[in-house]
Amino acid sequence: MLLIPHNSHISTTTMGTKMCRVLGLAIAVLFLATPLASAACNKDDLKALLSFNSSFPPHTLPDWINTEDCCSWAGIHCDDGTGRVTSLLFSNDDFNDFEPIDLVGNMPPSVGDLSELVGIRFSILPNLVGPLPHQLSKLKKLKNISIYNTNLSGPIPSFLSQLPALERLDMSASQFTGSIPPSLGSLAKLRYVDLSENGLTGACRRPSSAGSTGARSPPSASARTSWQAPCRGPSPASRSAASTCTGTG
Ligand SMILES: *[C@@H]1O[C@H](CO)[C@@H](O)[C@H](O)[C@H]1NC(C)=O
Ligand SMILES: *[C@@H]1O[C@H](CO)[C@@H](O)[C@H](O)[C@H]1NC(C)=O
Ligand SMILES: *[C@@H]1O[C@H](CO)[C@@H](O)[C@H](O)[C@H]1NC(C)=O
Repeated sequence: MLLIPHNSHISTTTMGTKMCRVLGLAIAVLFLATPLASAACNKDDLKALLSFNSSFPPHTLPDWINTEDCCSWAGIHCDDGTGRVTSLLFSNDDFNDFEPIDLVGNMPPSVGDLSELVGIRFSILPNLVGPLPHQLSKLKKLKNISIYNTNLSGPIPSFLSQLPALERLDMSASQFTGSIPPSLGSLAKLRYVDLSENGLTGACRRPSSAGSTGARSPPSASARTSWQAPCRGPSPASRSAASTCTGTG
């Protein structure tokens, strides 16, 4: 037995009127938005993104539908002027009104085909596994790598030293193992490094080759400090060279 309140008819009509208004507004917005969407998705970037999309199980990226407008897809940021993809931001967390996305599997090699990328963030992704694809070494404009709280594994790749623009490297709280490749010391712009909470071994400091490169601008004292501090390992001065980059908890 259903008890229908007296005013149910009225509220249904009101609802209907509201729905009409919302629909009308939606249609108006659609018409207004169409000419603005003129900066069509860059063809090369779209190709890479479609490959990225197909690397994951269905429904991983539910709003990756309209191929005319890949810049509006969740996780994708483009340069307003050029329309090129400049950042990838994936996190299974809803901070900063990001749409939480859970990436299950390996990091697709197609990331390396987004040639204008400046920043990548893959964070709080427990189901992202395997090593970093070597295709990342093609990203010559990449300044910012934020990969933390993942189950990515393997070494801190020495190919990262082929990223001349790299300023910030956060590869913390994952499953990386081995030691910091000495070649990272040649990255003249690298000024922040956090490799804590991995299974790394060896001294937690800027590799010594740093001093021998960048003749005109050797790394400053602050660069050295910020390299060491975020590793959260024992300071090389107070401990033996066998100190580790494992987090102190
Ligand atoms: C992304 O992949 C899913 C299947 O995983 C597919 O249904 C969808 O059409 C793809 N998106 C685009 C824009 O091709
Ligand atoms: C780049 O680094 C900053 C921290 O300085 C961070 O807040 C930002 O989210 C990063 N951008 C990307 C795209 O990873
Ligand atoms: C790695 O995977 C394990 C097992 O699935 C999970 O318990 C853990 O939270 C994951 N680590 C991170 C940092 O997400």
